[in-house]
Amino acid sequence: MSLHLPPKSFRDSYQWRGGSLDVAAAPRPRRSLPFGRDGRVHPSRAPYEFYPTPPEATRALLSVETFDGTIWEPACGLGHISKVLVDAGYDVVSTDLIERGYGQGGVDFLRESAPRARHVVTNPPYGRGLGDAFALQALTFAAETGGSVAMLLNLASLCHPTRHHFWVKHPPAVIYGLDELVCWPEGRPELARSTTATHRYCWVVWKPAHEGEGWPTFRWLSCGEFPSP
Ligand SMILES: C[S@@+](CC[C@H](N)C(=O)[O-])C[C@H]1O[C@@H](n2cnc3c(N)ncnc32)[C@H](O)[C@@H]1O
Repeated sequence: MSLHLPPKSFRDSYQWRGGSLDVAAAPRPRRSLPFGRDGRVHPSRAPYEFYPTPPEATRALLSVETFDGTIWEPACGLGHISKVLVDAGYDVVSTDLIERGYGQGGVDFLRESAPRARHVVTNPPYGRGLGDAFALQALTFAAETGGSVAMLLNLASLCHPTRHHFWVKHPPAVIYGLDELVCWPEGRPELARSTTATHRYCWVVWKPAHEGEGWPTFRWLSCGEFPSP
């Protein structure tokens, strides 16, 4: 199968500075990760973009989606998504750039050259184009494995001038709009900025069988229906 992805040289370059994802063709020099000495991409952001996912979001996803085979959570943080997947019976490979005591630390997903599992499920880092680079990398691996990709993304990222061509070229199979979800910086509400709780999220799911099938289905999911036991 082919997902008509940009060449690897593009994915290696990361798109930190905006620029349309459709200018993929031109190979660019490899850039380093965009984190400063304090681990932040911006003073207002959490170090290493660590915004853990409340478990109800993943439970909501699993109420409507199944994954046949192993799953890679490549930005696992403290395992907020991985633990829900494991509890649901999935075989999960958990890695992260940062060693936090869950999964394998020191693994830069964007420098990985081969898939570690069939599917990718994650809430990626967003800032400075990291989310875009994660999506492209995950789609590349899924094209190799025949697997699916599920990413928790900011709803606003679906309608953004630099991403228009990306979405049109790589339409997901389903988008699930989530009603109530807050991913606090470092999981600590006291660190929230004034805008933190105003973000709205969606699960974006790409499936191999959907390739060439046209536009995504949009559905609504209520996290409140999946409270912690
Ligand atoms: C938004 S947090 C989400 C954490 C976890 N997926 C969850 O949902 O709770 C993003 C995570 O991406 C990790 N990260 C940032 N850059 C990364 C990279 N290049 N490769 C792998 N992980 C990275 C951060 O350490 C952080 O744990």
